[in-house]
Amino acid sequence: MKSIILIAAPAAGKGTEAVILKEQYNMPHISTGDLLRAAVAKGDERGNMINELITNGKFVSDDIVLELLKEKILEPACENGYILDGFPRNIAQAEAYDKILEEIKRDIGIVIVLDIDKEIAKSRISGRYSCPKCGKVYNINTNLKPINEGLCDICNIELTRRADDNPDTYEERYNTYLEKTEPLISYYDKKGIVYHVDSGISSEETHKQVVKILGE
Ligand code: AP5
Ligand code: MG
Repeated sequence: MKSIILIAAPAAGKGTEAVILKEQYNMPHISTGDLLRAAVAKGDERGNMINELITNGKFVSDDIVLELLKEKILEPACENGYILDGFPRNIAQAEAYDKILEEIKRDIGIVIVLDIDKEIAKSRISGRYSCPKCGKVYNINTNLKPINEGLCDICNIELTRRADDNPDTYEERYNTYLEKTEPLISYYDKKGIVYHVDSGISSEETHKQVVKILGE
């Protein structure tokens, strides 16, 4: 299976779709947000610095993100394709990623953009809970609730709320998305690898459209 880069506004459904794809196609899911939150959980100096940035809706430095990313994609499990969720997030990261792929002689795969109205995405953060272990995302205000209240369906451990899920930080994250990440769509359009999906309806509808693109 080709690798997939998911590009979308905050809370558009990247993580949700990535976990569904991971389960269906047995592909590794690489979320830079999850990798950074795991670094925060270590509680060391670097973790505290990352926490400060994420909590304020700011990007973490390209150097840190690229280091975490490179380590991950070089794992044997990633040889035959993976899902990138939250990376690349700006043109500099996309260019650095192109160079890495050239070095390791790997194809970029395809880019799937999850299109969504800002207010719909913003409304989703109030009900979001996620599993700190596997990254599966839930929403207590929709049909994406866990089977047992407060517990991950897969890992059976307690779900957590994210520190950046509040309306003010959302505005900051959304503006950063428009300024830094959205230009990636035309960057990849020039390579002819971009597909769009409407992510504003339900996760089932999002997934149906993605499967159609993958031709399965
Ligand atoms: P990250 O964790 O990637 O956050 P984000 O991009 O803001 O995206 P989210 O995880 O909030 O949303 P999502 O699109 O995954 O939506 P989800 O599936 O959860 O990054 C966090 C921070 O880390 C960044 O702000 C930055 O500071 C830093 N960072 C990360 N990567 C970086 C990088 N490369 N460079 C620099 N800094 C970086 O869905 C949201 C909710 O909606 C859930 O409750 C879900 O259940 C529900 N839902 C999902 N899909 C649907 C649907 N179709 N219908 C109804 N409900 C749905
Ligand atoms: Mg996510």
